[in-house]
Amino acid sequence: MTSESTQVSYDTVIPNNVGLSSDHRVLKGLEQWHPEFLDWWYDMGPNGFQQFPVYLRTAVSVERDGWAQFGYVKMPDYRWGVLLAPQIEGRTIGFGHYMGEPVWQEVPGEHRATLRRLIVIQGDTEPASVEQQRHLGKTAPSLYDLRNLFQVNVEEARHLWAMVYLLHKYFGRDGREEAQELLRRRSGDSNSPRLLGAFNEATPDWLSYFMFTFFTDRDGKMQLESLAQSGFDPLARTTRFMLTEEAHHMFIGQSGVARIVESTCSAMLENDLHDPYDIERIRALGVIDLPTVQRKLNFHFSVSLDLFGSEISTNAAGFFDSGIKGRYRENGIKDDHQLVSATYPVLKLEQGQIRSVDTAALPALNTRLRDDYERECARGVDRWNTIIKKAGIPFTLFLPHVAFSRTVGEFADIHANPQGQILTDDEWHQQKHRFLPTADDEAYLNSLMAPVHEPGEFAPWIAPPGKPIDNKSADFRYVRLNS
Ligand SMILES: [Fe+2]
Ligand SMILES: [Fe+2]
Repeated sequence: MTSESTQVSYDTVIPNNVGLSSDHRVLKGLEQWHPEFLDWWYDMGPNGFQQFPVYLRTAVSVERDGWAQFGYVKMPDYRWGVLLAPQIEGRTIGFGHYMGEPVWQEVPGEHRATLRRLIVIQGDTEPASVEQQRHLGKTAPSLYDLRNLFQVNVEEARHLWAMVYLLHKYFGRDGREEAQELLRRRSGDSNSPRLLGAFNEATPDWLSYFMFTFFTDRDGKMQLESLAQSGFDPLARTTRFMLTEEAHHMFIGQSGVARIVESTCSAMLENDLHDPYDIERIRALGVIDLPTVQRKLNFHFSVSLDLFGSEISTNAAGFFDSGIKGRYRENGIKDDHQLVSATYPVLKLEQGQIRSVDTAALPALNTRLRDDYERECARGVDRWNTIIKKAGIPFTLFLPHVAFSRTVGEFADIHANPQGQILTDDEWHQQKHRFLPTADDEAYLNSLMAPVHEPGEFAPWIAPPGKPIDNKSADFRYVRLNS
């Protein structure tokens, strides 16, 4: 019998399915980290809502179905814990140089620094997003959305726990130090920023929030999917469970933007407005015009693309070759899983032109993951377009070209429009306001952000959801304010 199981043990302060109660060193380390974590949560978690009961789900098992139990809980009392997906008997490394060898249950010495770095980078994004979203509760368009925001926040905090457990368990003293640093950096802080650019951007309004969960959380999902293939089994199992939570975050982004688009389209139709560029009259209806939705989309997609790193990366090749990080759904791909002589088409800037160039596949793995990401994003955008098309409004949302507004990789030094045409500096400065959110857009969005706290009611700029959470009635009190 092993100390690990699929059921979550709630008999220690830290719920877990990794046998923490008999792992004294790690339990002690985490118990010391816990109060510092709570200090961080009070300082940087949802601002102004810590004392109210929220209808949240908590994991009770790590099996695919039935892991979630719903109930009211005040966020600081949420049972954050350490949850790993079940161990797969006889699992072997599925790619790279060590393919076919048994997966590692301990960190191989030669990969220690790399694994620690990857875990720290992943870990850093989790509290960062909580910090970015900490003021949004004050302007939530409904109790339903407020609850979903908090669900995402507590789960991102649990993802921090997931990475901190790995650091404590497998990386000794320097792991513990890194775990403390994860609580010290702050999103957007000029002295001690979070490690990745997109996680230092502001999330000032709910359209930004939904775009963030759609685009930036989805980068997280792609990274987790690649790490879920890892030869380091504890990392693979941790990320596999995180992915089950991540699915809900994707849903919030997808459905949030869909509901905004739906509200805009129906308000336009009801008022006999058919020109999506008739901005003044559309805004007079208190809904968000589609060109603004597109500009926000442009911004969030391009900053999220930067998270994939350079198109050509020897690090990415090394992670794959050494069995640390696979491709998106590696185990479903039909090839040799080693890629030693394979090629992959990469968009590059050559003599001032953007061209597709066949390059060695291993160093192009960031590009490949980014392409998988782009395809998935495009499917989501299509679903938003279905709503617009159905309303008969002549407007199509689209993903901007990968060369648009980038600060990392091949296109960092040029300007391109969302269609991928290269622009001079002057052209860019003249046209930029058409592509990216303007001060005027931000001011308008900001003017819409007023809280709606009546059960079953929604701000006019967002349609109600298709389906409530946990089959509750439409007027369910997802957050018990004033109780
Ligand atoms: Fe996360
Ligand atoms: Fe997430």
